[in-house]
Amino acid sequence: MEVLTDIAAVRAFVGPRRRAGERVGFVPTMGFLHDGHLSLMRAARSEAGAGVVIASIFVNPTQFGPNEDFTRYPRDEAGDLAKCRDAGCDAVFLPPVSVMYPEGHRTTIHVDALTGPLCGASRPGHFDGVCTVVAKLFGIVGCDVALFGEKDYQQLAVLRQMTRDLDLPVEVVGHPIVREPDGLAMSSRNVYLSADERAQALTLSRGLAAARAAWATGERHARVLEAAALAVVRTAPLADVDYIEVRDARDLGPVDTAARDVVLALAVRFGRTRLIDNTVLRV
Ligand code: PAJ
Repeated sequence: MEVLTDIAAVRAFVGPRRRAGERVGFVPTMGFLHDGHLSLMRAARSEAGAGVVIASIFVNPTQFGPNEDFTRYPRDEAGDLAKCRDAGCDAVFLPPVSVMYPEGHRTTIHVDALTGPLCGASRPGHFDGVCTVVAKLFGIVGCDVALFGEKDYQQLAVLRQMTRDLDLPVEVVGHPIVREPDGLAMSSRNVYLSADERAQALTLSRGLAAARAAWATGERHARVLEAAALAVVRTAPLADVDYIEVRDARDLGPVDTAARDVVLALAVRFGRTRLIDNTVLRV
């Protein structure tokens, strides 16, 4: 497995393989890898049909707000590279900040509307940072297909829209949420949780399950589904709810009564740690 730190090296690695007709799969990450990330790398080959798989590890400063966890975001370069190798990556792009944002970088990509609600409301500028770095990574890697987790449901929707709007020649593929055996969605940020917070964080997946149960009995009122999830999350004394919302699964528009597929998405803080999770409710 090649470890590449500059743009020319990535192009020298990918270019000849692509010209030889290989399908190039790409998995962007911020590192501190867990099974959610690794499942994307494996799926790149097994499901998305990539002959060459490249991952990136870059903690992108532009997607963190001034009071967010950029400087303390967990890192484990050696461990991550070993995991990428095991997951079958052919190369990992590990750029320093100066390569991604050299002096004089002046372009930001903003996707309208989809970035307004949910995480966009509590993390202003976050998706501009995500879009800008992913567009740059697509430009650097020159991949045919890129894989993203449904764990970050809004991010996936925003990146699909960006890719379509900018006519980027990349197929964007979503992948299901990978969970711990007890239901907690895997996240690099789970390491921040104290034992108490970790135990109470189970109310997130259980809250989503309660709403799913209501949906299964025919409940279609968004406010009732949200209340079903909220009632479970509220049983956790340490939970500080940012949002629990039903939104249109496609355009993230507001929903009153669900007539087509919806997503129930939530963000909840435990101490300084903000966790997100979601479930898609299909008609
Ligand atoms: P990061 O949080 O490291 O996640 C990288 C990819 O892994 C994303 O597509 C995310 O949705 C996916 N992922 C994370 N946890 C997952 C889980 N439990 N199950 C399935 N997939 C999971 O998302 C980012 O980094 C960044 O915003 C990035 C796209 C790399 C741009 O900087």
